[in-house]
Amino acid sequence: MQSFEYCSPTEIIFGKGAENKAPEKIKKYGGTRVMLVYGGNSAKSSGLLDRVKDILTDGGLEFTEIGGVKPNPRLSLCYEGIKKALDFKADFFLALGGGSVIDTTKAIAIGVANPETDIWDFWSGKKTPECTMPMGSILTISAAGSETSDSAVITNEETGKKAGINTPLNRPEFAIMNPELTYTLPRYQIACGITDIIMHTLERYFAHEEDNHFTDRVAEELIKNVVKYGRAALISRKDYVAMSELMWCGSVSHNGFTGLGRSRDFAAHKLGHELSGRFDVAHGASLATMWPSWARYVYQDNPERFAQYAENVWGVNSGTAEERARAGIRMTEEFFKEIKMPTCFSELGIGVQDDAVLEQLADMCTSGGTKKVAVFHPMDKADCLAIYKMANH
Ligand code: NZQ
Ligand code: ZN
Repeated sequence: MQSFEYCSPTEIIFGKGAENKAPEKIKKYGGTRVMLVYGGNSAKSSGLLDRVKDILTDGGLEFTEIGGVKPNPRLSLCYEGIKKALDFKADFFLALGGGSVIDTTKAIAIGVANPETDIWDFWSGKKTPECTMPMGSILTISAAGSETSDSAVITNEETGKKAGINTPLNRPEFAIMNPELTYTLPRYQIACGITDIIMHTLERYFAHEEDNHFTDRVAEELIKNVVKYGRAALISRKDYVAMSELMWCGSVSHNGFTGLGRSRDFAAHKLGHELSGRFDVAHGASLATMWPSWARYVYQDNPERFAQYAENVWGVNSGTAEERARAGIRMTEEFFKEIKMPTCFSELGIGVQDDAVLEQLADMCTSGGTKKVAVFHPMDKADCLAIYKMANH
C-alpha cells in the first residue's frame, strides 16, 4: 500500500426532506448572503427551485441566483456568476443540481475569493488557487460525485478545452442528499450516472500497486452494488432503496476512499473529456465509449489485475488470466450496452471521425503531444490516437 493522507471533510445530510436543513447548515458555515446556482430546466419544472427559495427565505437568508448551467459547464457562465456574486457581496454559495452546477459553483467560489485573477489561469494550470469561499450543495443527480470531491471540471467554450482542477479547496462544506430529488431523472441520465460512478472506482482500481486488499474489496463491492441497484433504478425511478444506494455510492466512489493507497489513473476520463469538449456529449456516455477500447489496449500490462476484477466483480472464475481479463472487459461492455450506454463513436452519436480529428483529440489529450497522461499505462499521443481509433466505428 502506498502511503497516503486522507481528508474528506464534507458534512453529509442524507435522507428524505434533507433540503429543509439548508439554512441551518449555511449559517453553521458562516453564510448570511447566499448565491444560489442551478441548471437549465429540471429544478424549475419540478418545483424544487421555488421550494428551495422558500426554504432560504423562511430561514432568514438573503440570496441572489444564477441559473442556466449547462452540462459540460461553460467558463462564461462562471465569469457571469463571479461578477453577480461580487456585486451582491455573497458570502456563501449553494449549488442546486448535479456535477455541472456544483462545479460551476466551485469555480464561482474560487473566482470570488480571487477577484484579481482570471479563473481560467487556475483551470489551465498557470496558477494555483490558495483560497476560496464556503459552499455547499443540494444534489439532484447521482453521478459525478462533485458533492464531496476535490475536483471541478469546466469547459472553455472558446477553445473547446474541458479541464479539471483538484484541490482541497474544492471540498464543499456540506452535501444535502435526498434520494427523492432524483426521481425526476430521465433514464439516460441515470445510466450516465451509473457509468460515471463505476468509472470513478475503476479509474482508481487499475493501478499497479499490490497488497492493498481492503481498498480492492471496497472498490469491487461498490461496483457490484451499483450494477445491482442501477438495474433496479432503471426499472423504477421511484425506488427509494435503489436511488439511495446510487446516491451514496456516487459520493464514496469519488471522495477518494475507493482508491486509498494507490495512484489515480483516470485515463478514460482524460480521453472522454476531449470528446465532451469537442462534441458536447454527456460525461458518463463519453466514459462508456472510451473504457472498453482503453481496457483492450492496456490489459496486457497487468492481465492478473484485470483477471482479479473479472473474478471478483463479474464472477468469472475459469480460464487463464488472459482469458478472464478479456471476459471481464467484455462483461463490463455488455453491461454498458444493457443500460443503453454507447461503447463506440457511432453509438455515442458523433459518427465515425476522420483521422485528422482523431489526431487533434490525441493532441489535446497530451497537451500538444508534450505530455504522457495516466499511470496504469502512461499514454503518449500515439497511444491516445490508437485508443481513439479502436473506438472509432
Ligand atoms: O440542467 P437541468 O435542466 O437541471 O438538467 C440536468 C442536465 O441536463 C439533468 N438533471 C439533473 N438533475 C435532475 C435532472 N433532470 C431531471 N431531474 C433531476 N433531478 O441532468 C443533466 C446532467 O446534469 P449534470 O450536472 O451535467 O450531470 P452530472 O452530475 O453527471 O455532471 C456532469 C459534469 O460533472 C463533471 C463532468 O465532466 C460533467 O461536466 N465531473 C465532475 C467531477 C467532479 N467535480 O468531481 C468528476 C467527474 O468525473 C466529472 O468529470
Ligand atoms: Zn467522471
